[in-house]
Amino acid sequence: MNDFAPDDPAFFLGDPHAAFRRLRREDPLPWYAGSGGAWCVLKHADVMAVSRDPQRFTSTRGVQLDQMADADRPQGIPASILEMDPPQHNQHRKLVIGAFTPRAAKLQETMVRQIARECLEAIEPESVHDLVEALAVPLPMYVIAEMLGVSRSDRPRFKRWSDALIAAGGGGRTPETDASVGEMLGYFAGVLAERRSAPKDDLVSRLAFAEIGGERLGDPDILMFCITLLAAGNETTRNLVSGGALLSMRNPDQRQRLLAEPRLLPNAIEEMLRWWTPVQSFTRTATRTTELRGQRIAEGDTLLMLYASANRDEEVWGDDADRFDVGRDHARVRHLAFGFGEHLCLGAPLARLEARVLFEELLARFPHFELAGEPELLHSRLIHGVERLPVRFRR
Ligand code: HEM
Repeated sequence: MNDFAPDDPAFFLGDPHAAFRRLRREDPLPWYAGSGGAWCVLKHADVMAVSRDPQRFTSTRGVQLDQMADADRPQGIPASILEMDPPQHNQHRKLVIGAFTPRAAKLQETMVRQIARECLEAIEPESVHDLVEALAVPLPMYVIAEMLGVSRSDRPRFKRWSDALIAAGGGGRTPETDASVGEMLGYFAGVLAERRSAPKDDLVSRLAFAEIGGERLGDPDILMFCITLLAAGNETTRNLVSGGALLSMRNPDQRQRLLAEPRLLPNAIEEMLRWWTPVQSFTRTATRTTELRGQRIAEGDTLLMLYASANRDEEVWGDDADRFDVGRDHARVRHLAFGFGEHLCLGAPLARLEARVLFEELLARFPHFELAGEPELLHSRLIHGVERLPVRFRR
């Protein structure tokens, strides 16, 4: 099984789907011994079964391979919502869910479109730019900045902090990234204090006055929530945009179809999410000895849910699962790019909105944007990402 190494970024840069396809057929729940060992959950039905059962499969011991377990977390650092189980998880999720409904996302459309247009207006027709830097990075970053109450003039600082956070999360933690993250926490603490004395209709004000069981949420919990949003909503949406752009350049027939039938765009975004799968995996830990697909799972075992594999499971998507098809029926089956169950991505309506608005604006302005060099893919086992995407912006 040496063509399968789901803890190694190089595996994902090769052709992981060849190994996934073979394993789904021959051994759909293999034990992988690297990185402390994990059951690798490759089938769509099994990823759903694990995600919907926090009693058996907990998030409190971390959701990434080798992640710090709850018990090892330094004192004073609260768990993020991603690492909670019910009932604590539901209590925290309820506090913010109102800011992330499809209706709330709709209210953000004007702001999102304005940011997308500003990015596109800086691009001259026929010029060549890195699409990642020009569009995919700034859009989600500035949208979250708006949500967290960062003023326009503070955007350059915010970009530095958010780059530091992403670098630190990707294993590149240094004294400089620590200093930037510390500066950012100080900034949010200031925003929080301002909202406490003069609340606005925004997310930070909502958190500032949030209560669980009659008790106000503490500052560390609120700051952790801000950081979680920044980390969870940035690189993910960035790579939906850049991965989706790459797919539409590599599949000209599909782009032609989108240009001819623009109403297909929301469905095309679902297909981009399925095919590209920006977050390749998350983990759970078994709380007791149990069974999955007839396999005995021991208490304390890790399960690695490979969304990337589940989203190509031929049992669900048919024999053409590997094909990128903007007309594929996404009403019938759900892809698992946003996870499933208790922890289903809170930012999914927002990410969908950002991608739809960006592609509407991009296709209207530069319908024939094309590759102008080799794309550079991100070296990561967690994120399916594009580092650099040289594009000629043709009208
Ligand atoms: C294409 C973009 C995105 C993808 C692929 C993505 C993917 C995911 C996945 C797979 C999970 C499930 C985690 C688990 O089960 O352990 C998740 C959870 C989460 N996402 Fe996203 N995400 C995206 C965008 C966003 C955005 C824009 C935000 C917010 C601004 C966000 C905030 C969150 C939060 C807070 C959670 C935790 C929810 C909970 O634990 O209840 N995400 N996301």
